[in-house]
Amino acid sequence: MNEKISELRNQFEAELRSVQNDTELENMRVAYLGKKGSITAILKDMGKLSDEERRALGQEVNVLKDEAAEKLAAKKEEFARLELEKEINAAPEIDISMPPTLERGSYHPITLVQRQCEAVFKSMGFAVEDYSEVVTDYECFEALNIPKYHPARDMQDTYYLENGQLLKSHTSAAQNAIYKKYKKALVEDGVPIKAIFPGRCFRNEATDACHENTFFQMEGVMVDKNISISNLIFFMKTMLSGVFNRDIKVRLRPGFFPFVEPGFELDINCEICGGAGCPSCKHSGWLELCPCGMIHPEVLKAGGIDPEEYTGFAFGLGLTRLAMMKYGIKDIRDLNGGSLASMSQFTEDE
Ligand code: PHE
Repeated sequence: MNEKISELRNQFEAELRSVQNDTELENMRVAYLGKKGSITAILKDMGKLSDEERRALGQEVNVLKDEAAEKLAAKKEEFARLELEKEINAAPEIDISMPPTLERGSYHPITLVQRQCEAVFKSMGFAVEDYSEVVTDYECFEALNIPKYHPARDMQDTYYLENGQLLKSHTSAAQNAIYKKYKKALVEDGVPIKAIFPGRCFRNEATDACHENTFFQMEGVMVDKNISISNLIFFMKTMLSGVFNRDIKVRLRPGFFPFVEPGFELDINCEICGGAGCPSCKHSGWLELCPCGMIHPEVLKAGGIDPEEYTGFAFGLGLTRLAMMKYGIKDIRDLNGGSLASMSQFTEDE
């Protein structure tokens, strides 16, 4: 009987050495230790033996049984370890000490100047408002003293939706809503209306280096008792000096917009040639940057504000033009081109 056990042990060990994977291992476990397994079978044959022989054999078989179970478990662990090693070796090598090769994204130049303007105006107590790109004819024109068929509409041809709404052709389209939102605080609590509202604008334009069908403006309004043109000039100069980080020379020329009276074109000294004259400023030394003026009484009225009691100024800063000036971008189309290579050059630390 002893011989049978040692034979079985040898056979088990030889077989275990040739096992290749978990499935084969499991088959082996069943073949030796299962209910019908060969080790279990020895125990079943013990009936014919004497008590003494049976006890001795029983002990030996149990030793073999434990031994076999232990070795099978050890082999299983070995397979698991090998499997893990294989996975680790298959993974691409990562050197965590290496600096990243991916370039970080950057803010768009328009976003940069927009934020700079916002920061300056916020510091002067202006609220920053957001407004829809789709507006009504009333908001974009009628409330701004531009009735239907007024020739001023020609300069602002835009894109119309089938429901009669349109893509706003200027940020002035938000003025009416702003007046209505803040008039209660103005009239009841004497809080002046001070708000800026940057936004994307659209016009039906043939595009070239200086014209785009999509561009950005930043509107600003201030309404209170006794607001005058001096206030307007002060706020514009302060904002421009903040954006360009130095004192900026400005000049006012008369300009016509139905929603302001009087109306102006605010020019800045050309930043590219310093005022001497260059192609960017059409050799005049000045650049048209910010149409503005005193809010027309009809516009205040449409916003629910009494023009006999209150006055205010409004401006429509060309954010796109400001970005082009500040960063020396010569072709406006680059701004909407979506080229990361061109746009990422203008990243500034915020
Ligand atoms: N909305 C005008 C335009 O886009 C600019 C403007 C704004 C003029 C505010 C005066 C006051 O042409």
